[in-house]
Amino acid sequence: MNLTVNPLRTVIGDITVPGDKSISHRVALLAALAQGASCLRNFPAGRDCRATLKILSQLGIAHEELEPGTVTIFGCGGKLSAPSQTLDCENSGTTARLLMGILAGQPFAASIDGDDSLRRRPMEHVAAALREMGSAIFPSNGEKDLPLRVSGGALIGRNFAPDRAGAQLKSALLFAGLQARGTTRVTEDLPTRDHTERAMRLAGIRLETDGSTVSVEGGQIPKSFAVTIPGDLSSAAFWMALAAPLQGSRIILHNVGLNRRRLGFVDALLHMGAGIREEVISCDEGEWFGNLDIRGDQLRPFQVQATDLPSLIDEIPLLAVLAAKARGVSTIRGASALRIKECDRITATVTNLQKMGVEVDELPDGMTIYGTGNLNGAELQSYGDHRIAMAFAIAGLLASEKQTLIHDTDCIAVSYPGFHRDLLHLIKDSVRELAFS
Ligand code: S3P
Repeated sequence: MNLTVNPLRTVIGDITVPGDKSISHRVALLAALAQGASCLRNFPAGRDCRATLKILSQLGIAHEELEPGTVTIFGCGGKLSAPSQTLDCENSGTTARLLMGILAGQPFAASIDGDDSLRRRPMEHVAAALREMGSAIFPSNGEKDLPLRVSGGALIGRNFAPDRAGAQLKSALLFAGLQARGTTRVTEDLPTRDHTERAMRLAGIRLETDGSTVSVEGGQIPKSFAVTIPGDLSSAAFWMALAAPLQGSRIILHNVGLNRRRLGFVDALLHMGAGIREEVISCDEGEWFGNLDIRGDQLRPFQVQATDLPSLIDEIPLLAVLAAKARGVSTIRGASALRIKECDRITATVTNLQKMGVEVDELPDGMTIYGTGNLNGAELQSYGDHRIAMAFAIAGLLASEKQTLIHDTDCIAVSYPGFHRDLLHLIKDSVRELAFS
């Protein structure tokens, strides 16, 4: 499928985005390991999270969904069943890496694979750390990290201080640590999202945090729990980016996750001069959530450096689009991790911006964007990456002139199958509101 968008002058409306993808993977996996039935409300329909549920079925974990988005998972009390076939993580890096941590501690062998994009992504840093804990995890064919085979079993807790920040690695180690003998400690150089820690606490797991170190004592079985998954800030970011540079625009986003470690994009927008009001509703069930009210204004350029990255890692392509709308020079540095996401997001972003007439220099770890306030509609590629497809749909809406055509946008369903529907809803609402104003 291709997506065509036309420039939009103003947007007014409100949206409720799907449940947070990162949190959903974690609560599904913990519910699977728990003793008893857990209830996950607002579980998203995106393909990544559904891949996690399918894999759990292959590991003997039943679930039911009596109404869309309300998923009951019947946990196994820590004992999964050996799968008869390869576990296909499809496009989901989080599924693959967290699963490695879980399977490392289970007394059977299993194979993990994914689609062509996932097969190009690094898994060896996770495998190597889990081998240190005693599991045998090796690529099935020597060339790539995936497919791989995990022969799990008795694990021993270890101390880790990874030299590159990564929430997926930390989470895989904590899942393995839950099943290990002794204590597993992970010390981070930069704080990454702490959804695993919060979900584990919700499931009654005792975790210690001491500065930048989190530790878990092995031999703990999660307790069943009920949770309402907050809206995904990374999906909400698309609508924030749409309203922020369009003067006279306003978008309200309901029930969005407001975990501080995910709010780098909101901070960057505030720095750029966007009008944002955060209305925190609650910190129920371990995660902060609330409403975001965004009003458009003339944006200023920004600088992103390595220390900012974990809190806005998935929003960099969108920030680059906004840099083009701000007059002046914006820089993004310390972001080389983006080259190993669903596609090389640095090259993809730079190429698409250049096609839209923006002057951008590609750097090994980021880019420099010379914003003039103008983007021109163009014919673009998604590179099979959901976030690139959506970021450039927004860029097309923010263009000053000409239509934008984005090829190969089926990938949007990985995280936000309702993106197109929500876009149409917003545009329709905007037209109605403007007609009355
Ligand atoms: C994620 C962590 C981030 C992020 C990814 C989801 C997670 O990756 O880019 O989309 O759910 O833990 P890192 O492992 O690089 O932190």
